[in-house]
Amino acid sequence: MNRRAFLKSGVAAVAAPVIVPRHVLGGEGYTAPSEKITLGGIGIGGIGHPQLKSCAEVGFEVVALCDVDDNHAKKTYDRFPQARRYRDFRELLSVEKDRVDAIYCGTPDHTHALITLAALRAKKHVCCVKPLTRTLEECKLVVEAAKKVGTATQVTASPWTGETGCRVMELLEAGVIGEVREIHLWSDRPKWPQGMTAYPTNTDPIPETFDWKLWQGPAEERPFTSEWAKESNVPDLVSASWGGRAVYHPFNFRGWTAYGTGSLGDMGCHYVNIPYRALKLRYPTRVMATSTRAYSIAYPLASVVTYDFPAREGLPACQLFWYDGGLRPPVLPKELDGQKLPDGGALYIGSKGVMLNDQVVTPSLVEKAAAVPKTLVRRGHTFQEWLTACKGGEKAGCDFEWASYITDFVLLGNLAIQTGKPVAFDPEAMKVTNNPAADALIRQPYHNGWKLEAV
Ligand SMILES: NC(=O)c1ccc[n+]([C@@H]2O[C@H](COP(=O)([O-])OP(=O)(O)OC[C@H]3O[C@@H](n4cnc5c(N)ncnc54)[C@H](O)[C@@H]3O)[C@@H](O)[C@H]2O)c1
Repeated sequence: MNRRAFLKSGVAAVAAPVIVPRHVLGGEGYTAPSEKITLGGIGIGGIGHPQLKSCAEVGFEVVALCDVDDNHAKKTYDRFPQARRYRDFRELLSVEKDRVDAIYCGTPDHTHALITLAALRAKKHVCCVKPLTRTLEECKLVVEAAKKVGTATQVTASPWTGETGCRVMELLEAGVIGEVREIHLWSDRPKWPQGMTAYPTNTDPIPETFDWKLWQGPAEERPFTSEWAKESNVPDLVSASWGGRAVYHPFNFRGWTAYGTGSLGDMGCHYVNIPYRALKLRYPTRVMATSTRAYSIAYPLASVVTYDFPAREGLPACQLFWYDGGLRPPVLPKELDGQKLPDGGALYIGSKGVMLNDQVVTPSLVEKAAAVPKTLVRRGHTFQEWLTACKGGEKAGCDFEWASYITDFVLLGNLAIQTGKPVAFDPEAMKVTNNPAADALIRQPYHNGWKLEAV
């Protein structure tokens, strides 16, 4: 019986005054609203550092930490000196079985599915960084597992539940800019190397402080290279505060198809979350892409992806355009003449006017927009939402079911980028019906003894 069913059944009312360990109650982590939710963090050296601090700030109790790189994780270990430390997430889940209620996963994209599935199998609440998974098959399995287990889930995509998302929904619902048939989203990423034509040929010794085998997880085994050699001609190397000269770890895994999901995977979930919610988007009927040269091992330097969405719930069919690598919408509405676009954003083209993020920019409609009342309840704190859900309250805005739509959005775009051909996807059959090369990428092999298994 999960926590919600447990509370509904009335057993909770009887059990409440009795002090028993949480694992005894219902066996699935019953938590009184006042009780601390204990948290284990896996993949804590990059974005995991600020995000675990946020988790602690809203009230999670960080009791266990796991990372494959002692040095990269040091600042997080220092911040939570009382937390027990692990290298292998399987060991954390086994040893902490009865001591952690929730798992945060902040590893690179290619290990999200393994870790979230293992945490769900252990009946933990789970928060995973975006994108939820690296392949469509993984995404389906993770969502099915989350539904089956019934614990509280959340993905860290920029929320649709905050001020911007709620305002976009209110303005579109009020019809201020009319019917939206065109949406443009753009990002200045990548800020890491993409467009590589080959893996590096130089190798480096693996430091004792780093477990390269565990880092690779289910990916095909490769020799370790720490940094690009000086003479390497690598496009777009960035400053050390991003990934610097690192080849794979940290941060620069993003550009490789074996580990990351490119610019679209990195930023698409953030930018598409609000339009997906506000315009009730689900699966596109067709996805097309054009890009600089794409190679099977790495994402291209820049791409434009076009998504066709059918008419739905009283809304007309629309097209959504994604741009990255410094590209922007090539034709702007006259309302934006002379204006500098932000580095990333969303432009909604309506039948009556235009909106940039949550601002109506058509001068004749600005007053009308200001008069639209604020009716939606603002939430929008990723970890506060997750904590509330862990305690049996309202589910988080980007729970795994919702996150699966925006994850599939970016993964379908990548199939179109990688194959250079249109993609028509049947989500029920989990099949690309018009492009065998894209269809073959829905499911990708797991190596080194790892298995992708349903919960
Ligand atoms: N706002 C957001 O939600 C947000 C922001 C940045 C990154 N991300 C996502 O976070 C993920 C990580 O990105 P990053 O920039 O922090 O990368 P990173 O390489 O800097 O950090 C990843 C951390 O995970 C550790 N790690 C790798 N494999 C592991 C394993 N099997 N077990 C335990 N630890 C492991 C690494 O050692 C490292 O400390 C990506 O999926 C990225 O898309 C989300």
